[in-house]
Parts: sequence; C-alpha cells; structure tokens
Amino acid sequence: MNIDLSGKVAVVTGAGRGIGREIALTLAQEGVITVITDIQEDLLAAVGSEFALNGYPGSQYLCDVRSAAQIQQVIDQIVEKYGRIDILVNNAGIAGGAPIDVLAEEVWDLNFDINLKGTFLMCKAVAPVMKRQKSGRIINAASFAAIVPSYGSAAYASSKAGVEQFTRVLAGELGPWNIAVNCYAPGMIPTDMNHFADLQEPQQQRLLDTLTFRHWGKKDDVAHLICFLASDFAGYITGTMIDISGGKLATQIPRIAYEKAASEGAYEF
Ligand SMILES: NC(=O)c1ccc[n+]([C@@H]2O[C@H](COP(=O)([O-])OP(=O)(O)OC[C@H]3O[C@@H](n4cnc5c(N)ncnc54)[C@H](O)[C@@H]3O)[C@@H](O)[C@H]2O)c1
Repeated sequence: MNIDLSGKVAVVTGAGRGIGREIALTLAQEGVITVITDIQEDLLAAVGSEFALNGYPGSQYLCDVRSAAQIQQVIDQIVEKYGRIDILVNNAGIAGGAPIDVLAEEVWDLNFDINLKGTFLMCKAVAPVMKRQKSGRIINAASFAAIVPSYGSAAYASSKAGVEQFTRVLAGELGPWNIAVNCYAPGMIPTDMNHFADLQEPQQQRLLDTLTFRHWGKKDDVAHLICFLASDFAGYITGTMIDISGGKLATQIPRIAYEKAASEGAYEF
C-alpha cells in the first residue's frame, strides 16, 4: 500500500518553521503541489529556497491568518494558478500563556485570534473551493492541551479546545460535499514554540515521565499523520481528533513500565 498524494494541491499555514515546515516539505516530497504560507517573511523565504533547491512544486505567500482580506487574496491566487485546493492544513499557531492572575487580555486575544479565528477564516475561504470540487480534506492543529490542559495554559488550551469543537461542527456542515474535516492533538514535540529540548535535564525527565512512549515526538510524526489524513486511506474518517502524544493518556504512571524494563536491562534512564 503506497500513499499516493501526487498532483494534489495543498495549503499549509505557518509553514515557515517547526511542524508546519516539516508538513510542507513532506507533502512536497510526496508529489503534492504545496503552497506554503506564513506571517514571517524571512522564514517563508528560507523554506521557499528549500523547495526551489529540491525542485518541489508549489508557491509561497505571506499571509497572516488573522486577516480575512489577506487570506481571500491568497486563496484567489492559488485557485487562479492551480484551479483547486485538495488539502488545507491549519497549522499556524502560538502558545502564549500565564496563570490567570497575570494573564493579559491581549495574550488571551492573540491565542484566540491566531489559533481559533485563524483556523475559522482559512476554512471559510477554502470551503467554497472544496464544495465546488465536491471533495477536500481540512486538517486542523489542535493540541494535547485541548484534552488535558497544563498550568498557565488557559488561553492556549481554551483556543485549542475551540479548534476541536469547530472541527466537529465543520465536518457536519461539509460532509454532504465529501469534505473531511479532522484535527490532531500533538503532545510534546520540541520546536521554537516550546524549547522542550533546551530545558534543564531534570525538567526534561519530568516531562518525559508523562509519556507512554518515553521520548519526545518528532515533527515528522505529525507530517506522516497529515499525509495519512490527506490520503485515500483516511477516506472514512471525519469530525475527529487524533491524539498524537506518545500515549499521554494511555497509562497512569508510564514510568513504572520503564523502571521494570530498566531492571530487565531493556531500558536505560
Ligand atoms: N510543538 C508541539 O509540541 C505542539 C504541541 C501541540 C500543538 N502544537 C501545534 O502545532 C502547530 C505548530 O507548532 P510548532 O511547535 O511548529 O510552532 P512554531 O512556533 O515553531 O511554528 C508556528 C508557525 O506559525 C507561524 N504563525 C504564527 N502566527 C501566525 C499568523 N498570525 N499567521 C500565519 N502564520 C503564523 C509562525 O511564524 C511559525 O512559522 C501550532 O498550531 C501548535 O499550537 C504543537
């Protein structure tokens, strides 16, 4: 079974770095005409250069997902150029936060404007294109924080919980047009957003202790999930959130298994 995505047209938001960049490059490797968008021009240009170097098909557009006008302009240009949009990955996001007593209103708004409203605006602009085609895949970045939030994440976790519910609503609305809408909940993947891999060793170990697969997630773990969700193999999946967190909910104290494995010489802390 080979995933065949070649010739499809994808749009990836926040593709300038981190998971979004990995998603874009992986889709392009699979032969997808991949449109990368980001709010940061330098990052976008760098990924654009990687596309050019590898001869990947696609284009790049500066686009702030908070701006309905910018989004519409970009989507119009994509449709004019390629005639269709098969895959939309709403990856752009930020993760600002603080405990409630010091959580600034601006930080709350920023999380909601980019993570939730940005996803809504992108979907609103792309849905008519997919409806015309009577096909499409919309894939939204939620977060494990939408399932179990962490300390100080009121703004981020609430916005991502909104992404999950929005995903379900949209799946229901767009089902008759054969458009699947799903989201995914990454756990802990070191990026410039969280700097997990730069934490002091004891802090890293404390976080790793929450994982059934006791290692950090990789950006390409998410990219591979996106390829699957965009493919024909996922043709009967819609309105759901895929947990891609290394099993943060699977067991109560994952460390017990690793201590046992260590005692048998099968694991080293
Ligand atoms: N890294 C993780 O462990 C993790 C866990 C859960 C969820 N996520 C989600 O995955 C997505 C990517 O995360 P990441 O770790 O790669 O983050 P990142 O900060 O490395 O990358 C985010 C990208 O989004 C872009 N962006 C920010 N605001 C934007 C805007 N207004 N318009 C357009 N682009 C904008 C940034 O320029 C950047 O390129 C986010 O939605 C994040 O919430 C990540």
